Amino acid sequence: MAFSRQTQISKQRCFMVTGGAGFIGANFVHYWCAKYPNDRVLVLDALTYAGNRQTLASLDGHPNFRFVQGDICDRPLIDALLQDEAVDTIVHFAAESHVDRSILGPAAFVQTNVVGTFTLLEAFRQHWLTHDRPTDFRFHHVSTDEVYGSLAPDDPAFAETTPYAPNSPYSASKAGSDHLVRAYHHTYGMPTTITNCSNNYGPYHFPEKLIPLMCINILMGKPLPVYGDGQNVRDWLYVKDHCSAIDAVLTKGKVGETYNVGGNNEVKNLDLVHLLCELMDEMAPDLPVRPAQELITFVKDRPGHDRRYAINSTKLQTELGWSPSVTVQEGLRQTVAWFLANESWWKPLLSEEYQAYYRKVYA
Ligand code: NAD
Ligand code: DAU
Repeated sequence: MAFSRQTQISKQRCFMVTGGAGFIGANFVHYWCAKYPNDRVLVLDALTYAGNRQTLASLDGHPNFRFVQGDICDRPLIDALLQDEAVDTIVHFAAESHVDRSILGPAAFVQTNVVGTFTLLEAFRQHWLTHDRPTDFRFHHVSTDEVYGSLAPDDPAFAETTPYAPNSPYSASKAGSDHLVRAYHHTYGMPTTITNCSNNYGPYHFPEKLIPLMCINILMGKPLPVYGDGQNVRDWLYVKDHCSAIDAVLTKGKVGETYNVGGNNEVKNLDLVHLLCELMDEMAPDLPVRPAQELITFVKDRPGHDRRYAINSTKLQTELGWSPSVTVQEGLRQTVAWFLANESWWKPLLSEEYQAYYRKVYA
């Protein structure tokens, strides 16, 4: 018997959130458990270097929350979890997500992002068929604007109809996963949706990415490594707005569709780093180097570095009524405040393994 998502009031939904111990996945789990406490949330995460069990510790003991450490490539585990927990929705965040690491070692990206997504799709297809194709099941795939490639300064922003042109092993592997998800809807009629989102920032962001890396290096008085000329442009979105966009797609989106998500906040990297320096100068009581901008250092560019990303999210805004709630100025202020208040979260992540990675990229 199939229910529409709007009419299933009395039925407890069960979400499997893959990659729920990572940056965006964990923000999503906190968002969902707070907003929909009656839904069951099962996190499946391999706890790679990017996964952090501590980020979800405050949910332990919540009756509708369960954490399972496991790999999305492990088909028997996924089959068992889908059945035992009566999962009706997968929200798929798990991925290798860092472009620089994909340049150093692409194999893990193909394995998790392509093979892992394929494994999940196959397991979910079997589960969906076993239940006689319920229309309230959903496989939501979380993807990136990087699949569209790079824009020239005057090009229009990426729309859902922009042809794919991924440039890094990371974006190529995400593009492969998007195509698989799309094909599973087209061929098997599986109820899938996809979101392609721009650069996120906010709490629980792993230190290797631009914004947390700059915040932490300012606090430690270390050089702020800006790639190339610092004129590359990214479209920044506060992570909670990404969570609300996925919520809109899960509750109101049309199956088979793709929705672009973006903050309409295009900023050049160098300008962003200056903004972070100013916020730190204002908000941090003790800085080893002040003004922090004295730490800015231009370093060798990332190979194949995409020049500009910009997202057109008109479809999501007009069809589903979503809009970002936080301006980049406000979001960055909140993020700096979070890193100042949560040294106990980020300091342990600067492990010997992380330092070895750092030396490789910035040598
Ligand atoms: P992240 O690297 O912070 O977290 C990834 C999580 O996936 C980690 O908890 C890790 O342990 C887990 N994981 C990795 N391989 C796994 C495997 N084989 N099995 C199970 N779990 C595994 O990534 P993020 O920045 O939170 O990104 C989440 C998703 O959103 C990714 O799919 C990414 O492509 C997409 N995305 C990210 C951004 C961004 O700005 N960070 C923007 C758009 C889309
Ligand atoms: O656009 C969405 C994507 O955003 C996501 O799909 C990826 O998972 C996420 O990692 C992010 O990719 P980017 O490569 O844009 O993010 P990153 O934080 O690594 O870099 C942002 C910009 O800053 C980029 O132009 C490279 C530059 N940069 C980055 C680092 C780490 C520097 O100049 N110096 C640095 O040390």
